[in-house]
Amino acid sequence: KRPAGAPDKELARKITKVGIVGAGLMASQFALLFVRRLQVPVVMTDLDQARVDKGVASVHEELDKLAEKGRLDSDNHSRLKALVTGTTDRSQFADCDWVIEAVFEEVGVKQQVFADFEDIVAEDAVLATNTSSLSVEEIGSKLRHPERLVGFHFFNPVAVMPLIEVVNAPATNDVTLATAMAVAKDLKKTAVITRDRPGFVVNRILAKVLGEAMHAVETGTPISVVDHALDPVGLPMTPFELLELVGLKVGAHVLESHHAPFPDRFFESEHLNALADANAKLIKRDGKGRPGGYTKEFEAIV
Ligand code: 3HC
Repeated sequence: KRPAGAPDKELARKITKVGIVGAGLMASQFALLFVRRLQVPVVMTDLDQARVDKGVASVHEELDKLAEKGRLDSDNHSRLKALVTGTTDRSQFADCDWVIEAVFEEVGVKQQVFADFEDIVAEDAVLATNTSSLSVEEIGSKLRHPERLVGFHFFNPVAVMPLIEVVNAPATNDVTLATAMAVAKDLKKTAVITRDRPGFVVNRILAKVLGEAMHAVETGTPISVVDHALDPVGLPMTPFELLELVGLKVGAHVLESHHAPFPDRFFESEHLNALADANAKLIKRDGKGRPGGYTKEFEAIV
């Protein structure tokens, strides 16, 4: 496999329409970013019309808020709103040059999504997965043309975090990779090309930090001691605030997907799995959302 270098920029395809599979929170954040930065039609889809409508409405609300804050003038506000649409009719993805998914983090679900959309989009459309921990190669293994699949991993909050990991899977070709790099640049993000390894680069490190933090708590170190141990380093958030930001289910999945291939190197946490399953919170917050102490569900694991 070639080294992880950036391919020739000239190879990048022009994006004239973006398709987003999924209309949940992450998908809506993508739609907002793509429409603002690329200024092209963005179409969202999901399993039913209610989800689609909710996703589109939330993007429109965010555009309204930007207009209220004076960050969008009224012409651009109405133009961008009109560019974001939703549908359950997948044939409306036929002219998308870039299709990105933000569906459930389960390999079979993502394989099915891409197998379905491969038959709808044009031969030269690029398919992008936002998977945070699954193998891009495995996600693409059911495709007739896996060379046009690339990992395109965003970080929470999507609007703010500058990084995108562009995952160069074994089958990904240079045109696909160049297009992904160009899209990331147009989104005004910093892109790094990573190999298709568990956790890519960032989550590999994050899995270590979060796994060690959970393990330290489970073996008797007080939660607040663990959570504030890194304060002098000056990170923007404590480990458990970060875990709550990415979502306990996603966090638990990140730990599991590192523990499985590297059981001697990474911890998984049954307590975290249970907290995630119970939709529990970790951190108590005041009326303004400021953190102050830990929930009794989290304290109960010690
Ligand atoms: N959506 C959109 N914008 C947001 C936002 C959100 N959820 N949260 C904050 N912002 C914006 C604010 O509007 C503000 O914008 P402005 O300066 O233009 O007004 C700016 O971000 C700063 O916000 P605040 O002043 O309210 O808050 P902070 O300065 O405390 O910053 C933070 C908030 C940017 C979230 C910061 O705490 C941070 O960087 N935290 C670390 C986040 C991180 O590490 N993310 C990666 C997680 S790993 C991951 O996602 C991978 C996955 O696969 C697991």
